[in-house]
Amino acid sequence: MQFTVAIDGPAAAGKGTIARAVADEFGFAHLDTGLLYRAVGARAMMRGRGVIVPAIATEVAKELSEADLRHEGLRTARIAQAASKVAALPEVRAALLAFQKDFARREGGAVLDGRDIGSVICPEAEVKIFVTASDEVRAKRRFEELRAKNPDTRLESVAIDLRQRDIRDASRDVAPMVAAEDALLLDTSELSIDAAVAEAVALIKQRFGKA
Ligand code: DC
Repeated sequence: MQFTVAIDGPAAAGKGTIARAVADEFGFAHLDTGLLYRAVGARAMMRGRGVIVPAIATEVAKELSEADLRHEGLRTARIAQAASKVAALPEVRAALLAFQKDFARREGGAVLDGRDIGSVICPEAEVKIFVTASDEVRAKRRFEELRAKNPDTRLESVAIDLRQRDIRDASRDVAPMVAAEDALLLDTSELSIDAAVAEAVALIKQRFGKA
């Protein structure tokens, strides 16, 4: 059985939490595609001595393996910025395309979360959800997460980081962040995690019955 759930949206809107819960509920495999770009960004920065060089980033993307995604430390704000920069390079996106497309159509069902899953990676996905939340709510959520690891984290710098990434991710030429026409919009600003997950699960059950 092939069944793909595409979950897109800006940073810290709740995509990852919803995607993991949905994967658990239905026994689907889950891929956080942001980790692909984070892993490429982190390595490209290292090899480029702190600078993103497009040719190096492309080389890194071609060599990427699943083990690279399991590295600790990919969730910092610095690596998020590097990820957003390498993600704007068409050659990097092209190098990561086949892996994501194969993952989406694997047997047994798959949930992928990212920015372009419903629009580019798997336009044929059975369920597409675009998760949003207000800028303030997203900044606060990401701030709480990052502060748990680093007490020096500041809310203002988290908000700036998210805003910069949103603008870059939505305005790039190739595969910009966009809600697919047939995506369900899920605004989690006022929703608890449980309520947001329940909405996503209900939608999938509805479509599952018809798949
Ligand atoms: O989801 P995240 O915050 O971990 O993603 C990090 C960056 O990777 C994000 O700012 C843009 C990029 N990205 C992308 O361009 N396409 C995806 N499908 C997933 C992430």
